[in-house]
Amino acid sequence: MSSILVLHGPNLNLLGSREPDVYGYETLEDINGMLAAQAESADLGFDCLQSNAEFELINRLHATRDDDTEFLLINPGAFTHTSIALRDAILGVELPFIEIHLSNVYSREAFRHTSFFSDIAVGVIAGFGANSYALAMTGAISHINKKL
Ligand code: DQA
Repeated sequence: MSSILVLHGPNLNLLGSREPDVYGYETLEDINGMLAAQAESADLGFDCLQSNAEFELINRLHATRDDDTEFLLINPGAFTHTSIALRDAILGVELPFIEIHLSNVYSREAFRHTSFFSDIAVGVIAGFGANSYALAMTGAISHINKKL
């Protein structure tokens, strides 16, 4: 069964209590539950991982060479603006992906306007809070179905 992997970068474990005026009140558990339900209703497998450690996200990406992952949804958090290593890992395993942000990074500080991911992504969704993830999952499902 084709499967969708969702990766969440640093500090996203704090969702719900972290700067709620910027990131909203939904917890990571709420978001993962919603995404799992969307994947299930599309008959797709689902897995997710949040990590504050770059190497754990990279190792999970490498593991997709040996599992059923077809598509990646990733909110790299602050690694968006810093991590060539994470970018290289995605390129290395050749996974199509959507870059997700809860906030509209382009309406925030200038250092958030640079992404190491946007130019190699299928698409980027930012600014819709937890709904950014739901919109990205809809995009991932139609991308996979078009391919099948
Ligand atoms: C974020 C935006 C990043 O700039 C920030 O470092 C995050 C969250 C977002 O979802 O809006 O941790 O990726």
